[in-house]
Amino acid sequence: MIFAANFKTNHTRASTKKYIETLNQKLTDSECKEEVYVFPPFTALDTFDTTIKMGAQNGYPVRNGAFTGEIGVEQLEEFGIKTILIGHSERREILGESQERVAKKFSFFQENGFEIIYCIGEPLEVREQGDEAVTSHLLAQFEGIDTAYEKLIIAYEPIWAIGTGRSATVEEIRSTHKVLKQSVDKPLLYGGSVNVKNIQEILSIENVDGVLVGSASLDAENFYQLMKK
Ligand code: 13P
Repeated sequence: MIFAANFKTNHTRASTKKYIETLNQKLTDSECKEEVYVFPPFTALDTFDTTIKMGAQNGYPVRNGAFTGEIGVEQLEEFGIKTILIGHSERREILGESQERVAKKFSFFQENGFEIIYCIGEPLEVREQGDEAVTSHLLAQFEGIDTAYEKLIIAYEPIWAIGTGRSATVEEIRSTHKVLKQSVDKPLLYGGSVNVKNIQEILSIENVDGVLVGSASLDAENFYQLMKK
């Protein structure tokens, strides 16, 4: 199973270092075989001595250049970062990333050999329109994306379930993951209010290959508990 922690705009450089040390120790002591990823904020990126895969929450599709406030491949590679989140709904919705922009970013990081966790998800008004509307909304988020890319992992994160404490139901996850797997045969994560109470149920759903976790990943012990449930 894959367990990915997305810190978003949380944690500092100092607290991330402590977090990685704590989590790494727990994983080592328990001989944990799960695939564990952590996506800290940019300021906390570093070369950590750990089996945890460290990734970037974002990146600009350039090696380097004049793009004030952005980070390119050169800056990521300095810390050995070869994993990136692309298409997160917070970037699509809050930062206004269009599908075209997301696809461009995807192609660039693909050309640079990055492992990509590609996020898709529907807003509540689409979910309320029923399964067909959800499917077509989600499939539209594969426009311009090379879904055959070998280093691709998909994360299905319904927007209305993110940070709301209201995870999708087992049936919603089951049916959506089934449809997605039929279109794209890649590891498929679920994200949206995953916590210690619902993790067991979520991981037991067919076609769920892991989870992408926000709030419940912010404490190392709590994140580790998700793997032990
Ligand atoms: P929460 O786990 O806080 O709902 O966030 C999910 C998410 O957006 C992970 O990328």
